[in-house]
Amino acid sequence: MILSIESSCDDSSIAITRVDDYKLVYHKKISQELDHSVYGGVVPELAARLHTEALPKILEECKEYFPYLKAVAVTNEPGLSVTLLEGVMMAKALSLSLNIPIIAVNHLKGHIYSLFIEKEATMPITVLLVSGGHTQIIEATSLKDMKVIATTQDDSFGESFDKVAKMLGLGYPGGPIVAKMAMGGDENSYDLPIPLRNSPNIEFSYSGLKNAVRLVIESEHQAPNPEPLTLNPKVTSNICASFEKTAVAHLMQKLKKYFKLTRPNIFAVVGGASANIRLRGELESLCKEYNCKLLLSPLEFCSDNAAMIGRCAVEQYKIGEFTDINTLDISPRSKF
Ligand code: KG4
Ligand code: ZN
Repeated sequence: MILSIESSCDDSSIAITRVDDYKLVYHKKISQELDHSVYGGVVPELAARLHTEALPKILEECKEYFPYLKAVAVTNEPGLSVTLLEGVMMAKALSLSLNIPIIAVNHLKGHIYSLFIEKEATMPITVLLVSGGHTQIIEATSLKDMKVIATTQDDSFGESFDKVAKMLGLGYPGGPIVAKMAMGGDENSYDLPIPLRNSPNIEFSYSGLKNAVRLVIESEHQAPNPEPLTLNPKVTSNICASFEKTAVAHLMQKLKKYFKLTRPNIFAVVGGASANIRLRGELESLCKEYNCKLLLSPLEFCSDNAAMIGRCAVEQYKIGEFTDINTLDISPRSKF
């Protein structure tokens, strides 16, 4: 079995995965969302401190599996430096005390392997990764061969939901809150510009849309010093609905270009923001149109978790991809 640790942002999670059949033997996650909510975003130092409390608590629960462990896996890139360190330090301590090797896992590869928890992996596959830090189209041929085909020039898809939620005073994380508010709103209330609509390139950008939403919020306040909490709920819902429609339309417009060019056989969406119902629905239609198989990871494994890190680690274990304890380091800004 492999014990995996995830602490790249605001979720403390540990999983135990069986190597032979990928069975997820144990999995627990303690989320810090409520702790960061008052600040409208993740506060790295607070996140690190909360990991130091949560990770040992979870570890205590899976002590019974220690005799069966063949390796310890940990997310070491990309993520927040102070929180990545918490997981890496725990992995080093376990490696030394249990005399087992370490597998350093890339968080983005982990998200891709969230598709294959308790399953064989199917590759090649084209993946849309939408999370708080990333918006990418990735062509994954194998564990070692993953190419980023398109990426965002500025904010990510999930981040734009977080920023809109913050401007509207709705809390953190913004994705689920904005999506819920959007359900009760009229998506045609505001005519927001679809980013990079006339650009022939397959790339993404969300900062312009965020600014367009800011201008709408300011005009709705009709006051020089707007207080987010004073907007009436109907207006807030309408803004959320118009924003969500445009944010998803941008992804879909660029994906259509990609589908026309490459006609993928299998397409998947992963990452925290892949929980977005509107996005899932529109991807289903696109894949149907192109006769392409759509893979979605279960909702519980869309956001950050150690089960996906463990599943990826099994692949690394099988090819002997271990990292020396003395050279293992974090790489907060790495891509692949
Ligand atoms: O993958 P994840 O848990 O963490 C990162 O690796 O970043 O993704 C979290 C991101 C946040 O930005 C959150 O607002 C967004 O995913 N998110 C959503 C939804 N649920 C979570 N964005 C849009 N719609 C959702 N339903
Ligand atoms: Zn993530």
